[in-house]
Amino acid sequence: MALTEPLARDMAGLARAQHAEVVSWRRHLHRNAELSFKEFDSADFLERELRRIDGLAIERPTPTSLVARLRGALPGRVLAIRADIDALPIQDQKTCDYASTRPGAMHACGHDGHAAMLLGAARLLAQLREQLPGEVRFFFQHAEEQHPGGAQQMVDAGVMNGVDRIIAAHVMSTVDTGRITVLDGPAFASSDRFVLRVQGRGGHAANPDRCVDPIWIGAQIVANLQAIVARNTDAHDALIVSVTRFVAGTAFNVIPDGAELWGSVRCFDPGVREAVPGRIERIARGIAEAHGATIALDYVHGYRPVVNDPAVAGALREAARLALPEVPLHAMRPLPNSEDFSAFTVGTPGAYALIGARSAAKRIEHPHHHPLFDFDEDALEHGVRLFAAAPFVLNQPA
Ligand code: NI
Repeated sequence: MALTEPLARDMAGLARAQHAEVVSWRRHLHRNAELSFKEFDSADFLERELRRIDGLAIERPTPTSLVARLRGALPGRVLAIRADIDALPIQDQKTCDYASTRPGAMHACGHDGHAAMLLGAARLLAQLREQLPGEVRFFFQHAEEQHPGGAQQMVDAGVMNGVDRIIAAHVMSTVDTGRITVLDGPAFASSDRFVLRVQGRGGHAANPDRCVDPIWIGAQIVANLQAIVARNTDAHDALIVSVTRFVAGTAFNVIPDGAELWGSVRCFDPGVREAVPGRIERIARGIAEAHGATIALDYVHGYRPVVNDPAVAGALREAARLALPEVPLHAMRPLPNSEDFSAFTVGTPGAYALIGARSAAKRIEHPHHHPLFDFDEDALEHGVRLFAAAPFVLNQPA
């Protein structure tokens, strides 16, 4: 069945009726925040709640992730909907009654909300099973916040077998509640990292002429790496190359032997991304050789960019327009943050939505990853309705 106005109204009614429970799920997860790869209690809680819903087949592809499947009564495609469930190593500084009770672990990015929204959508869709086309797989993913990420582990466990499309969403404490964004193309940047060692020759600070100074050489490398952004990259492509740590030396009067630089590289285009390690190596080696030093580069690829498939993104916007007529679609720029959702979209088209969850009136405005982070729980209902509406647009038989 297609997403008609009466069906959208039914969904809105069901979502409203269960809203208090979705909020209570979110608060339970928030109080019991768990770090990446250690979401044991969270996964147990979600499994318990999923088992109360009729018609779901539930699996644990990894120790702390869950996949629940719901087969609709009508023919159609297979849609996966993903929520991440992990918290961050931050001490919660909120004083509300749902603040984290786990020292040093806090849901400071809203993943508790994502899990609650997906659970709410699963329950809502189970009630609409007779009208539901195809199959929906609910992915509760562990460890989004920590490289190498839980998404790749779930993919390796085979969760994408038979999936035609995949979607996800993030609550945004930087965008007002009542706005939804689904971008075409890039949504989140890739995030890679490097360690660069500069090997010189140390000695007395009084005799720099008898040394090969790795700090002076390292400083020139730091400055020259910006040529990759300013002189090697098309002006229409965004790229960030940042040296984020520079360690060398032990004393006022000693030139050290070596220096170690750490850095972060972010961009939206796979081609741009591929070119960066070689450029870093060439610039660093050239400068080092000119001054008698050597370098060693250790470059680690992190999460790929999240790039929305235009057809899936268009269908998700259509679902939002039909299911959430009171929530206007909102234009935004892609975010320079990264997301391991990209692991699911290698070979499967997907799209990622951003759901506004800031409220100045409720004084909910702290940025993500802040020790006072919170999000407006009214946004949970928007997420539930978007997730519940999506299969009625995306799962229609080809
Ligand atoms: Ni997040």
